[in-house]
Amino acid sequence: MIIIGFESSCDETAVSIIRRGEENRVLSEVIKSQIPLHEKYGGIVPEIASRSHYEAIDILTSNSLKEAGIKPNEIDLVSITQGPGLIGSLLVGLIFAKSFAYSLKKPIIGVDHILAHVESAFITNQEIQYPLIALIVSGGHTTLFYFKSKFEYEILSKTRDDAAGEVMDKVCKYLDLGYPGGPIIDKRYKEELSKEFKFTIPRMSDGSNDFSFSGYKTAFIRYAREKKISKNSKDIDALLSSFLSSIVDYLLIKIKDFSKELKPKSIIISGGVSRNTLLRKRFETLCNELNVNGYMPEARYCTDNATMIAWYGYEKFLQNKEKDLFDYSLNSYSRFLKKSHLKHK
Ligand code: KG4
Ligand code: ZN
Repeated sequence: MIIIGFESSCDETAVSIIRRGEENRVLSEVIKSQIPLHEKYGGIVPEIASRSHYEAIDILTSNSLKEAGIKPNEIDLVSITQGPGLIGSLLVGLIFAKSFAYSLKKPIIGVDHILAHVESAFITNQEIQYPLIALIVSGGHTTLFYFKSKFEYEILSKTRDDAAGEVMDKVCKYLDLGYPGGPIIDKRYKEELSKEFKFTIPRMSDGSNDFSFSGYKTAFIRYAREKKISKNSKDIDALLSSFLSSIVDYLLIKIKDFSKELKPKSIIISGGVSRNTLLRKRFETLCNELNVNGYMPEARYCTDNATMIAWYGYEKFLQNKEKDLFDYSLNSYSRFLKKSHLKHK
């Protein structure tokens, strides 16, 4: 079966074509990152994002068909991100995907972006076993799941305020270090400086298991003000390294506590922040300590991509639980574009 996936929920326009069934492989992957467009604002500007998706999606689609060496009518299923994400950006992808499916009279399936991030670990590791714990950590989300099987899951913890990647982006914006902040902090990290500033691991006063990252941002800015640290100060790397080290520990402590309780066979970390070198290193050490198989997607599947959308769309299609895979009508958009599809514990 040949599946085309479209992703346009945030600042990447991506189209992928995959083959699933007897063979499981990627036929083509094309992606246009909007980072250069948003860089000067230090964050994503929604209107610029939707316009850029609109300008890119048709060209990317014809390039992906060319790269895969297939004709449009050879496609068996269209898979599209239905949220969460920026509404204008989601709409561009959804309208394009629906029109594409309609013109070919092919089935279309909508998938949840966060669940597709979990699925991204399976693209190159099809042997991953359940039950599993999965942490999705990006610029928009920090959510920890327990999966009994592919479609039976519960949320163990999610952020009450900022996402982990978001606080990295915000502190870098504050000090005018560039955008996105995560990769900048990653490169500047120095182990020997990572204890110079103290960041306290957050604990919820109401005993909840949720994450909270806004305190990290406040503490970072307070240190920067008190010690007059700016972009060119000598203490900047120590502040960034201490900040990153504590966030990584916080993410892993949660995984460790839940793993001890739930005894999963596998642990997945995915989403943009899972590209982080320190997180990858410490996660490997933790999995050895817990004696559990740990998986992180390869770099191009950590951040937003359309292969994970196509991959997960196929899995959902096999479930065959969708109401109508041939509903191309306008009034079905609201059914597609729900704010979040996830059930909290
Ligand atoms: O998954 P993603 O592409 O988009 C969503 O937010 O859904 O993730 C982008 C986030 C940004 O906050 C970015 O700073 C962070 O991932 N990021 C990183 C690294 N690469 C990207 N954070 C830490 N280290 C990195 N190497
Ligand atoms: Zn994402």
